[in-house]
Amino acid sequence: LKLGVMASGSGSNFEAVAQAIENKQLNAQIQVLIYNNPTAKAAVRAANRGIEAVLLNHREYKNREILDQKIVQTLRQYDVEWIILAGWMRVVTSVLIDAFPNKIINIHPSLLPSFKGINAVEQALESGVKITGCTAHLVCLEVDSGPILMQAAVPILLDDTAETLHARIQVQEHRILPQAIALAAQKYSQIVSKE
Ligand code: GRF
Repeated sequence: LKLGVMASGSGSNFEAVAQAIENKQLNAQIQVLIYNNPTAKAAVRAANRGIEAVLLNHREYKNREILDQKIVQTLRQYDVEWIILAGWMRVVTSVLIDAFPNKIINIHPSLLPSFKGINAVEQALESGVKITGCTAHLVCLEVDSGPILMQAAVPILLDDTAETLHARIQVQEHRILPQAIALAAQKYSQIVSKE
């Protein structure tokens, strides 16, 4: 599997995918990391692993569609088959989705369909639920919707803050994201071979 990872921040999920590949738990290569914030730690992680990284700063593009056109062009240059949104904090448009139909995977820090959008961890804490978690899903136009690939549950403890809870959710994200990539690829090849 030829992966393109897109990240905006720390990139711990990017690292988890790279580590799963290194450990031979996932048969794939990361062709390129695309990041949109010049200071994203994800870029440092890529450099440390010798993975190519391309900065596409959304502030330099007139609108989301034009940014996504540039993203598609970059992903094609790097021969990417599957896109992993690993903390990509921009809404993606039909430009990206139509170019890679059913080939984009997102990781979200809640048990979808609960707590979509930003601040999912805070939303869960404020709602008073006792269990939350994370979801790996295929991306469609509606934000944080699309077919669910894998989920993991995380209990909310009495003294949890958004930080402590998010840290425990991330442990699960790092576990399920590589598995979800393998699962999606396997499912997709079955659909193709049945045709
Ligand atoms: C993760 O919690 C993910 O669910 C959300 O953004 C966060 C990214 O974390 N979409 P990291 O940059 O991979 O550390």
